[in-house]
Amino acid sequence: MAAKIIDGKVIAAELREEMKGEVGELKASGLTPGLAVVIVGENPASKVYVGQKEKTCANLGIYSEKHALPADVSEEELIGLIHKLNGDPRVHGVLVQLPLPGHIDEGRVLEAIDPRKDVDGFHPVNVGKLVVGEETLLPCTPHGIMILLERAGVDLKGKEAVVVGRSNIVGKPVSLLLLSRHATVTICHSRTRDLTAHTASADVLVAAVGKPEMIKADMVKEGVVVIDVGVNRLEDGRLVGDVDFEGVKEKASAITPVPGGVGPMTITMLMRNTIEAAKQQRVPLQL
Ligand code: GUN
Repeated sequence: MAAKIIDGKVIAAELREEMKGEVGELKASGLTPGLAVVIVGENPASKVYVGQKEKTCANLGIYSEKHALPADVSEEELIGLIHKLNGDPRVHGVLVQLPLPGHIDEGRVLEAIDPRKDVDGFHPVNVGKLVVGEETLLPCTPHGIMILLERAGVDLKGKEAVVVGRSNIVGKPVSLLLLSRHATVTICHSRTRDLTAHTASADVLVAAVGKPEMIKADMVKEGVVVIDVGVNRLEDGRLVGDVDFEGVKEKASAITPVPGGVGPMTITMLMRNTIEAAKQQRVPLQL
């Protein structure tokens, strides 16, 4: 079977076009959605991601501000900035780019963000709401994956969904979202004994481990839908996912490419969350 390619670039562009219109309407009514991005240190990948976030905000008409702090900034100073942003009415979303330097407690920093401004969906309050199935700001990559599956026409009810990777950013939240759509979900990770026994039973496979091309054709079944979250730079400069795309696409019914699959969806969903957060924080008119 030759797989259908799930084109994240096209789907993300459609969503962004819709959002541009919505932002225009909100601005006309006096509400400009605003995002503050905080970056600590000089991590080159983080700098690229933050630059893309600012550019996308500008494209959609969303107000953005960047706060670049030195790598040796104290935890207290960083949390002080977050408190300031929590109280700033121009800012509806606060995003602290991860990873943070080792001397900073990531959990403490994420908990300092006002849950209503937590456009990453990483605050324990929002994670808890996701667990119990309450509406909330969803983590961007998992939310983007769900939209890709929806747009690809994948009905998840009763399907075997296998997630490889258990990170707080992707593996755990996407598992909960798949479960909320009535899939039977298995989470595999580095200590899983027989990985192939699990992946080979998947109707839907989400790979989010950060190991270049580790999911091979002989690990999946015919007709599987594959979502590849990996972004791995090889020594020869090529960018590849966690899935051996060329091999697996011969067996899959649908598959996301890398680049151009999940990647473009992540920032798009961040924009979605910023707009949602702005709408929810809007002060009702006092008549
Ligand atoms: N670093 C890698 N992915 C993410 C993400 O989704 N949000 C933040 N804040 N940092 C990241």
